[in-house]
Parts: sequence; C-alpha cells; structure tokens
Amino acid sequence: MSFLSCHAAVSPLSGTIPIPGDKSLSHRALIFAALARGKTTITGLLPSEDVWSTRLALASLGVDFQDESDGRVAVNSLGYQAFHEPEDIWNMGNSGTSARLLMGMVCNLPFRVFMTGDASLRRRPMGRVIQPLSQFGAKITARQDKILPLFIEGAAHPVPITYTLPVPSAQVKSAILLAGLMCHGETTVIEPEPSRDHTERLFDYYAIPHSITERNGHRHITVKGFPEIQPRPLHIVGDPSSAAFVMVAALLVPGSDVTIHNVGLNPLRTGLIETLQDMGGDIQIHNQTVVSGEEVGDIVVRGSALRGVTVPAERAPRMIDEYPILSVAASFAEGPTEMHGLAELRVKESNRLQAILDGLSAVGVRAESHDDTLTVYGQNTVRGGATIAAHLDHRMAMSFFVMGLRTQSPIMIQGWESINTSFPTFLDCMRSMGVTFAVIPDAKP
Ligand code: S3P
Repeated sequence: MSFLSCHAAVSPLSGTIPIPGDKSLSHRALIFAALARGKTTITGLLPSEDVWSTRLALASLGVDFQDESDGRVAVNSLGYQAFHEPEDIWNMGNSGTSARLLMGMVCNLPFRVFMTGDASLRRRPMGRVIQPLSQFGAKITARQDKILPLFIEGAAHPVPITYTLPVPSAQVKSAILLAGLMCHGETTVIEPEPSRDHTERLFDYYAIPHSITERNGHRHITVKGFPEIQPRPLHIVGDPSSAAFVMVAALLVPGSDVTIHNVGLNPLRTGLIETLQDMGGDIQIHNQTVVSGEEVGDIVVRGSALRGVTVPAERAPRMIDEYPILSVAASFAEGPTEMHGLAELRVKESNRLQAILDGLSAVGVRAESHDDTLTVYGQNTVRGGATIAAHLDHRMAMSFFVMGLRTQSPIMIQGWESINTSFPTFLDCMRSMGVTFAVIPDAKP
C-alpha cells in the first residue's frame, strides 16, 4: 500500500490536456455494440477498470472484443438474440453502471446470471433496479437488504412495463429501457426530473424505434421491443466528470491557463461548468460540435478568484458526480457555498456526503450538512496536513488530491489506486499541466 500526495503549486498550471473517454458512454458503447449484429469499431473508449467490468461480462455472453491500434476496440457480435448464459459469476468490481445496466440487459433473456462486486458496490442499493425489473417477470434474488451478490433468472415471458422513477437515476432508467428491448410491446419510463440521456441518444443514433414526450413536466421515454439493431461506428467524447478535476485544479492556481480537449458537453452533464462560472470561474468553451450524437468541445480554464454560491436541487442530476470536487473549489471561495438536493450522494461509490464532511473537517475546512444540503464555508488558506481515505471512491481520491494544490501542508490519499476505475491517466494529466506529486510507500510492514 502507498499514499499519494500532491505538492502545493508554486507556479501557474498550463498546457493542453486530452481527457479520456466518457465512462457512461463507454459502458453504453460496449453494450450497444454487443446488442447489434455485426462489427462495430469504437474509438475513444475509456480504458478503465469500470469499463473493463462491462466488457468482461459482455464477452461471457458470447461477444468478441479485439483491441486494435490507437486504442480502437473492435466488437463482433451475433446480436442480443444470440447471447448465451455466462459460465461464471459476473464480478462488476466498483462499477454501479455495469451492475445496473447489465441487470436490465439480461433480465428478459432466457438464462441465469450471478453477480457480485467489490466491497463498495456490495453496499450499494440494488432494490431500485430489482423492483422495476421484477415487474417484467424476472426473478431476482439478492441479499437481505437488496444488495449484491444477487442472482437473476431471466423472465421467460416478459411483459412490458410503465414505470415512474422514484429517484432521478440514469442507471435505473437505462436498465429498464435496455430490458424493454427484449420484451414484446412498449416499455415506458417516466422521469419526473431529467437525468443524463445517453441511452436515449443512442436509441436515436441506432434508429431504434422509441419516442420521448413531455407531459406535465415529466419525460416519458417509450421503447418498442425486439428492434433490428445494425452496427454503427462509435466515437466516445471525453468525460466531463474527469475534466472536472482538471478544471478545478486550473481555477484554484492563480495565473493558470489550461485547455482541455474534446470534453463531452451534453447539457445533462454540464451542471458543474455552470456552477463554477456562477462562482466567477473563467471557463470558456470553443469548437463545439456533435460526435456520435453527443455535444463536445474544448474548454479553456484560467485561474480565478471564486465566490460562494447556492446550487439549486434541480441542478443536482446534471452534476451528481461532481459534488466532491465542487466542495474542494468551494473551500477556497469567498463566502459559503450551499448545495441542495444531495440525498443521492449517500449511495455513490462511498457515502459521499459523509466522506466530504469528514475530509473537509480533517483538512481544516468548516462545512455542515442538514438533511440533503451541504454548506462549505470558503476560506483564504486551508491547513491540510491530513490523511484522507478514498473508501474505494475514485472521485474522493481525485478531489482531495486537487485540494493539496492549495493547502499549507500536504494531504495524503490512502487508497488512491481507485482512481483507475474512471481516470487511469489522471496523474499523467496532472503532471502535464505542471502538477508535481509523490507516491509514498506505507512505512508499516
Ligand atoms: C451514471 C449515472 C449516475 C452517475 C454514474 C453514472 C450512468 O448514477 O452517478 O456515475 O452512466 O448512467 P445514478 O443513475 O445512480 O444517478
């Protein structure tokens, strides 16, 4: 075991940083390529542990993956109707997206799947998917608290469902929509609050029959079962949730000027950019275009003095993964930052609400939480000088690493290896913009 520690910045950060492929899109690209009958070439796929979990699971259904030059991945599939029962247990590692989306994808197929995950994933709620997927007719048996490990017996004669999401969750929505592909008739998900719509955009991109309508402020997404899915080339845009760490690093170090290339700008993912701009962050977007159905552009970020703001609950689904790094930015802002609607943070890779509070308190930042609101009181200088455990949570590890750029004493990250679940080139990106850091071996035997 070792600790990772970022050195305080002594000069401005600069450079042009490429951001690896979007995690949400990478999972979905593999899934849609597997559903289609024929060969798909994916470029820009995120080569991270979470995405690998999805790939291994799909391979066990009979899908062939080949790594080609330049990071391209070729997927050869006979289509979803040819999937067969996996021989072994699916281990989804740390990846909630793999677990939930693939539960949906197989729950209406005529075979059985066993699924588990790492200590973090085994604590995360699966009842939110078990409940709707059981309505199709699948039999899903999980541990007592509806957590992993679990066992799925695919529905022999699935019946389509109409389901209103009780929590805004793109994973639950996507699980149901994927299940609807293997069920005769029309399956509808009703979304009271919009969440990332990558799955729906891929329905569009693949010309899979579906409709999206707006009624009383709720989105109704309906998909028709048993579509013909033809392969299409896929290009994955850079992950805005990974770019978030680069953006905040650049904002926090005075005089910095960093360009981040090829960042996904789907409006249901841009809540952090808006928030940082509200805080006075100098963030500009250039060269906007659309790739494989997703908006993308280059982001130019300059070191900025930030001020505290109120982040409304309605924005939370559009930046749900970004609260740890926003809390770091808020720690150096003038005045308090109040973030509302954070209930879902308790069920991420760690209990992020608690982990943020504990981490900030350990490094000397005042913060408090009531109900689903977190308030961080920004200050001029932050002490630092603490060890922060990542709790198998990549975003906690990266957030407190970035915080170390501005603390008086270094912060040590324990369990920093979890960064590989989503952003394996994180330290390379940090290094190329001028950040220095140390990996310190654990002194204990
Ligand atoms: C994701 C949806 C979000 C997000 C996760 C990826 C997805 O989870 O936190 O990192 O790819 O659909 P929820 O659906 O639980 O909000």
